[in-house]
Amino acid sequence: MTEWWRHAVIYQIYPRSFGDGDGDGMGDLAGITARMQYLADLGIDALWLSPVFASPQVDHGYDISDYRDIDPLFGTLEDMDELIATAHDYGIRVTLDFVPNHTSDQHQWFTAAVASGRGSPERARYLFRDGRGPNGDEPPNNWKSVFGGPSWTRVDEPDGSPGQWYYHLFAPEQPDLNWRNPEVVAEFASVLRFWLDRGADGFRIDVSDALIKDDAWPDTATGEPIIPKGEDSPVHEVYREFRRVMDAYPGDRMAVIETGAEDEIVSLFIRPDEMHLAFNFKFVHAGFDGPKLRAAIDSSLAANAAVGAPTTWVTDNHDTPRSVSRLGQNATLAGAYVPGTMASGIFQEVDLELGTRRARALALVLLALPGAAYIYNGQELGLPNVDDLPDEVLQDPIWERSGRTVRGRDGCRIPVPWTTGANLGFSRARAKPWLPIPREWASLSVAAQHASADSMLTLYREALRVRRASTALGRGTLRWVSAPGEADDLLVLDMVGEGSTVRVVVNLSGAAIDLPEGELLLASQPVSAGQLPAIAAAWVALPPAPSIADRLISAVGDLTEAIPIVPTLRPGG
Ligand code: NOJ
Repeated sequence: MTEWWRHAVIYQIYPRSFGDGDGDGMGDLAGITARMQYLADLGIDALWLSPVFASPQVDHGYDISDYRDIDPLFGTLEDMDELIATAHDYGIRVTLDFVPNHTSDQHQWFTAAVASGRGSPERARYLFRDGRGPNGDEPPNNWKSVFGGPSWTRVDEPDGSPGQWYYHLFAPEQPDLNWRNPEVVAEFASVLRFWLDRGADGFRIDVSDALIKDDAWPDTATGEPIIPKGEDSPVHEVYREFRRVMDAYPGDRMAVIETGAEDEIVSLFIRPDEMHLAFNFKFVHAGFDGPKLRAAIDSSLAANAAVGAPTTWVTDNHDTPRSVSRLGQNATLAGAYVPGTMASGIFQEVDLELGTRRARALALVLLALPGAAYIYNGQELGLPNVDDLPDEVLQDPIWERSGRTVRGRDGCRIPVPWTTGANLGFSRARAKPWLPIPREWASLSVAAQHASADSMLTLYREALRVRRASTALGRGTLRWVSAPGEADDLLVLDMVGEGSTVRVVVNLSGAAIDLPEGELLLASQPVSAGQLPAIAAAWVALPPAPSIADRLISAVGDLTEAIPIVPTLRPGG
């Protein structure tokens, strides 16, 4: 068992936005397969594809109507087979999004639940409750949806009378399943098998900690839902079952948990008999703030070490404003994105040069730390968030659900620029990309960055090449060198691997600092005269420490110099 996932670099593809193979303006599976060489050259180990399954696309695929089919928007099952086979030919593993918390309201189970009426086994697969008030006109409790508005929607009963309410943590088109029902567990175990049989190397599990709700459904002071996640929550038994399913397959399959919970809770989901990895959102929200970064690193490593699991490192994804823009605000604001609100930030006064400089430095932290690292498509190009999309092109359901007050996540989902030509190479010339691509992104395109020594793309490629060749980066053990009290200006840590140590120096201050002695492997800004400029990071291979034998020889040498040689005394002599 290689447990490749313990130190893998996993690249998240947002399929709508990666590459358009059929020229309809929407990215698809063929567009990904056609660009596999790029991914291989980048040097990643695995892919995570955001959902490509049959879906009305209310939440861009996080509303699935058939878990065993591909949405025609993205291609066919055969296209997926080809994608997996091509990736495997390049030695790249493929992990798929798995969305167990809710289905689409168009899923056959849900339409059957509405049609079958109160008390039916079909309804028992979802969370239907009677309403409150004399005619059941009021929702069963006051919990709010993550996307805005109430989390309950009322259905009409089969006879046309106003009926029960169903619970949806997200949009009304995303009804939550009842994970206390064994039939639901069995069905999703079978979905896992379907994709494992087709060659998937693993899964990213959407809102994985939210499957079980407090079944007393009490009102809460703020309208926040109560979602038991602790050791006693039945949610852990669900993951034990998933783990049994995955362990029955050869090939070291892996699943990563998505949860924004506190580290000690997160680590419960990655105990040896549950899932393998968990996203580390504290790291996302630490921005470029030294003390927050250090705290996020320490607390996550400690909590996961207690259960023997590795940690993941993430700065960007399809729900979060892109880091180049986030980090281009002042340091305090850079961490201010609030988990769960999915706001798009409409940033004021973003300094993209500063944000890019910080993002370059942070890339060398992300890719050095012990564990698995995630890269979100376009992050390696230094794409900024697009915060000036006109209202009429916005697509995220959050926009409408919030009464057009929260603009949503479209700004981090803009299609990737590949060339400087028409549609920046994302799609054919006459197509209209599903979200407009800023023309000025020509200079950020893969073609424009490919051969440039100081581009973000070159930094990522180099970092991944150096990491792959190293026993220390990503794989070794972390040892802090700088003191916690220095974190405002400086983070220095050693990654200690087998036979080599790489020192990671992060200069958060406004002035250049001296780098330690050793071989400079990579720096996020040019280093001259052994000095690392302000707001930059570097990897330095430390000179090999003398072996114990060398140390003994030199200690004996020192002794023999210091002490006059005494003739050996023979017993009795
Ligand atoms: C988390 C996903 O990352 C997000 O994009 C989605 O809207 C929600 N879960 C609901 O599935």
